Amino acid sequence: MNATQEKLKVQLEQAIVAAFGADFAGVDPILVSASNPKFGDYQANVALSLSKKLGLQPRAIAGAIVEKLDVSEICEPPEIAGPGFINLKLKTVYLEAQLNEIQADPRLGVAAAKIPKREIVDFSSPNIAKEMHVGHLRSTIIGDSIARILEFQGHDVLRLNHVGDWGTQFGMLIAYLREVYPDALTTANALDIGDLVSFYRKAKQRFDTDAAFQETARQEVVRLQAGTEDTLHAWKLLCEQSRQEFQIIYDLLNIEIIERGESFYNPLLSGVVDDLEKSGLLVENQGAKCVFLEGFTNREGEPLPLIVQKSDGGYNYATTDLASLRYRIQKDQAKRIVYVTDAGQGNHFAQFFQVSRKAGWIPDDVELVHVPFGLVLGEDGKKFKTRSGDTVRLRDLLDEAVSRAHADLKTRLQEEERQETEEFINEVARVVGISAVKYADLSQNRTSNYIFSYDKMLDFKGNTAPYMLYAYARIQGISRKGDINFKELGSNAVLLQHETELALAKYLLQLDEVISNVEQDLLPNRLCEYLYELSKKFNQFYDRNQGVQVLEAEEPQRTSRLILCDLTARTLKLGLSLLGIQVLERM
Ligand code: ARG
Repeated sequence: MNATQEKLKVQLEQAIVAAFGADFAGVDPILVSASNPKFGDYQANVALSLSKKLGLQPRAIAGAIVEKLDVSEICEPPEIAGPGFINLKLKTVYLEAQLNEIQADPRLGVAAAKIPKREIVDFSSPNIAKEMHVGHLRSTIIGDSIARILEFQGHDVLRLNHVGDWGTQFGMLIAYLREVYPDALTTANALDIGDLVSFYRKAKQRFDTDAAFQETARQEVVRLQAGTEDTLHAWKLLCEQSRQEFQIIYDLLNIEIIERGESFYNPLLSGVVDDLEKSGLLVENQGAKCVFLEGFTNREGEPLPLIVQKSDGGYNYATTDLASLRYRIQKDQAKRIVYVTDAGQGNHFAQFFQVSRKAGWIPDDVELVHVPFGLVLGEDGKKFKTRSGDTVRLRDLLDEAVSRAHADLKTRLQEEERQETEEFINEVARVVGISAVKYADLSQNRTSNYIFSYDKMLDFKGNTAPYMLYAYARIQGISRKGDINFKELGSNAVLLQHETELALAKYLLQLDEVISNVEQDLLPNRLCEYLYELSKKFNQFYDRNQGVQVLEAEEPQRTSRLILCDLTARTLKLGLSLLGIQVLERM
């Protein structure tokens, strides 16, 4: 709900009380956006819902409310329509004043959160010695955007990378490398990540087929857990190797994140098990320690346990998540914890959330949210793979997007007979390529699978990054053409006359509502939709035939229209920045 809606709501509530008495305090006026702009901007449907209680016709009720309603500063005189809707149309002077206000506001009218909170966004979180895959790419892009939006709203956000850097796989890998390539365990940078991944695969094969090797690998895990120096050193080298590779991706995507991997919580795992024991939740089942879950059953319909300690004494992914959850609440003082992973991990989150609630570890004012997303599919609708069937390296994927953007730009420059420097071309290609990948992901409702298509994401038409970037650059072009400094347009000069001006103005004023919705439901695609719709509204306003003249217009219209241009550009820039996308002044 935006500020205007809030004001209208208060007025309606007061009018209801004035008309029908104090018993009706707190009745929801049911204020919604008008279904058809012909009827105005908002519509209150409360009269229909009160009809039974009051024993009156809805139209009569609406009439009684309108008689007491004081919205003259905001709206034209309210009208009653149909069975008893109260239609409200915003006054042009009111809209003009609102736009004058946001023109002077760097936040463009978006109110910061009333109560700033400590929030944690757990995202990206790839695994050491494994390739960072497209699932991690989604988590990185979505998580970063969510963090940016929460930060913009004034929250105190901790961006955490829950890297998979601990567990039995390291025993396997170290044992294998000791045999085949001991240098990798003592010398920095002896391996690159590709080698590491293939060694990992071979180590796993060996582990699955060779009992003696299994035993060696187990001993290696014990040594790691005991902190034995050479094993620990080897583990650190392996982590460092992967970390460098992850950093390349973060740099390309401009991602800030703090690494706090699974190993960090290792010393806290036994405490988790002890406390579950004390709270009486722990059950021994075939030597394993577990907690039985409600609402989760196996194929036979029997209750499913969450294993927190295996019969060999080892801990699980879930145990680490329980420990990290407690740490984040107690030490980090988090009030909301947001986990961004693929939807396939939904049960995992539901399960350890349930166990921690049962154990009484989650205070009432702490909110836990799993933010799930769908799969990335190839254009054939199957799992995203390279042509040869391998998993796609993220670096290659991003490079490919940039080089395609580069080729597209070269063609465009040729067609337009434009000369640009190599530096300009590279920078535009980089921004367009990276933005295209980010925007393609963010503009989908994250819960559905999405089809990765370079052609679609790099298209200048449709809901894509190039379209949005172009809309922004086009507006900057107006200022260049007219030699106008958008920062020096003066104030209180907005004047709304033409239909397309009004439509654009009203839309500009909705940013506040959109951002506060995304802050709640964590769906960045809503912001993308808004920005796309805004660009379309702008294009209608700036359209030669249906829209208005801008640079050629007379004063005072000219200045007012330039302010609308500037406000649109600033809204695009701000909105895109919250998606992690940088704008270009020219492209
Ligand atoms: N490392 C995990 C994976 O690659 C994601 C971790 C997500 N965060 C968490 N707290 N479990 O699937």
